[in-house]
Amino acid sequence: MSEAKGCSPSSVLFEMQTGELLAFLLTLAVATVHAETGFLLHTQRIRDSPQWVEPEVEALVRSSFYAADPIVISIPRWQGNSSSPELSAVVSARLDQQASNVISVDLENATNEAEIVENVASFVSILTKNFDVPLERILLVGFAEGAHLAGEVAAQLHQDLGRQVPHITALDPPAGDLLEHQLSASDAEFVEVVHTNAGKMGTWERLGHVDYFPNGGETQPGCSGDSCSHERAFELLAEMWSSDNDFVSALCGSVETMSAESCRWSTLKMGQKAQGQPSGIYFLETHQSAPYARGAYYISFL
Ligand SMILES: *[C@@H]1O[C@H](CO)[C@@H](O)[C@H](O)[C@H]1NC(C)=O
Ligand SMILES: *[C@@H]1O[C@H](CO)[C@@H](O)[C@H](O)[C@H]1NC(C)=O
Repeated sequence: MSEAKGCSPSSVLFEMQTGELLAFLLTLAVATVHAETGFLLHTQRIRDSPQWVEPEVEALVRSSFYAADPIVISIPRWQGNSSSPELSAVVSARLDQQASNVISVDLENATNEAEIVENVASFVSILTKNFDVPLERILLVGFAEGAHLAGEVAAQLHQDLGRQVPHITALDPPAGDLLEHQLSASDAEFVEVVHTNAGKMGTWERLGHVDYFPNGGETQPGCSGDSCSHERAFELLAEMWSSDNDFVSALCGSVETMSAESCRWSTLKMGQKAQGQPSGIYFLETHQSAPYARGAYYISFL
């Protein structure tokens, strides 16, 4: 405001209104930002026409969400959208095997880590509180940064609900410097991690109860670039979740010593919940294309 206009009541009023209008517009902008985590529901009945659902009771009641079926919350890479290949890989791997609600999280317009985590955690809270979904029936899956976000959502839920999420499947998480939260075994009762491009787009670091290193964890057969090896992590899901899973794994002392001497065969197959299995580092070999599993017979250590 120019000084020449002085301080007449009308100019004060005008300034207040301008200020209020600005505040109002800012509030609108913030509210819009809050709504920018998208949720896309897939079930076997609506495989060809997934539904966008708002994280609220009424919208879920009107949708094809079926509370008696298990729920998979699938979180993509940073700013991944509904067309990201990791999301469709989770949908088909899961719905080919069993009736489920697969919720793909769309992060195309979401850029605030804390808000993403709050939005996803409150979505899950609605399911547990308003639909009586036991936490045991919820699986969190995350690819790349989505794996750390899944850990952070689980930690938030632990705080909000006083109970731990039973299971996180983390697919080639990167070294944690982009995000505040780094996935860890304390985020859920069982955290399994699949490392397929360690040291490049993924990390060598042990982040779960069991950390699998297919083909040594750094590069994958049939891949010439890092993003191919990175994305192999979710290509393996269909077989991990199949009843024919044959990803027989060997328990190793450390990633530096993934060798025949320091690894021994286990009965654990990658993707199975490790009932009574020791936590640690697991090695396995795969083919270069589907079906990836090689069983136990072809092992040759690096
Ligand atoms: C992201 O923003 C674009 C442009 O405003 C919009 O068309 C799209 O629906 C948004 N995506 C999500 C998941 O909200
Ligand atoms: C998703 O992202 C890709 C790559 O950034 C883009 O090409 C595509 O148009 C987006 N799709 C949707 C449905 O927003």
